[in-house]
Amino acid sequence: MNSYKIAVIPGDGTGPEVVREGRKVLDALAEKFNFKLDYTEFDYGGDRYLKTGEVLPKGAADELRGFNAIYLGAIGHPEVKPGILEKGILLRLRFELDQYINLRPVKLYPGVECPLKDKGPEHIDFVVVRENTEGLYAGSGGFLKKGTPDEVAVQESINTRKGVERCVRYAFEYCKQRGRERKLTLCGKTNVLTYAFDLWERTFRAVAKEYSDIRAEYAHVDAITMWFVKNPEWFDVIVTDNMFGDIITDLGAMIQGGMGIAAGGNINPEGVSMFEPIGGSAPKYTGKNVINPLAAICAGGMMLDYLGQKDAANVLERAVMEVTDKHIKDLGAGRMGMSTSEVGDLVANYTQKV
Ligand code: IPM
Ligand code: MN
Repeated sequence: MNSYKIAVIPGDGTGPEVVREGRKVLDALAEKFNFKLDYTEFDYGGDRYLKTGEVLPKGAADELRGFNAIYLGAIGHPEVKPGILEKGILLRLRFELDQYINLRPVKLYPGVECPLKDKGPEHIDFVVVRENTEGLYAGSGGFLKKGTPDEVAVQESINTRKGVERCVRYAFEYCKQRGRERKLTLCGKTNVLTYAFDLWERTFRAVAKEYSDIRAEYAHVDAITMWFVKNPEWFDVIVTDNMFGDIITDLGAMIQGGMGIAAGGNINPEGVSMFEPIGGSAPKYTGKNVINPLAAICAGGMMLDYLGQKDAANVLERAVMEVTDKHIKDLGAGRMGMSTSEVGDLVANYTQKV
């Protein structure tokens, strides 16, 4: 029997509630498909930081390397200054575990209300491959004359040939495997970021030569935000840098029905990957049993796919679609017409039927 060691980081706010429902669904699938999930919980997050003063203990990344995957709830605590936990836990794990891909599917499920006029599930089904270890997130820069009227702040975007190429290669390969439209769009800003996106575009064109069956296109990031709203059906797979990827995937989340359903994977194809709902810890809903667990459940589905349990991942997605189509009223917290745990129960039940 296949057995997988899963590190679970429930995290802050509503993280533990959504992770609980995710595990409920994952366990139902493990039973059905005859594999084992062996969970180990880690208490990383705001409460631990406030108690101990430590964000991540020494050797945390090394310990996590011993697992098959990491399942994360949410990071962010109202009593901790913004940035400390995000940088100290989420970004640090992405970097230290070299999870160089942030994979974010944008798919409108049946029954989900879309804020775009005249757009339905047949129009919104694409995936953003976001570079996850470089760009403006690399933390390169500094202050000069800080606190004086002559202050200078510099924040540099770091783009390495290696980092760009491995991301672009992943995107081409992913597009090929996905086998939908076989169209990959590079999202950049070559007209202004004439160094960074020059490297991106040259790399993109060079790798494209190895994928003659994939249509390789380029679009500026500002135009992409326009087309997400006007013509989302134009996209199949999009590859982009860290900052643009961060921004366009929040817009992507909105057109697929909101943060309640948006999932992502921080992927190191040669190492350990981490799966998370892309929304935050939503502290004001903590403990109320009203937060939508579907994003966390879908992140669990991405984890199953990554672990090689493709059939289970497909069943999970179909179960989620039954619930969005037939049961859930609205994807927003407190507006679902049912509780967090009821949504988890329903999805888990459907996994045994679809
Ligand atoms: C995300 C988040 C993070 C990011 C924050 C919390 C650091 O917005 O996962 O998209 O900017 O990557
Ligand atoms: Mn973001």
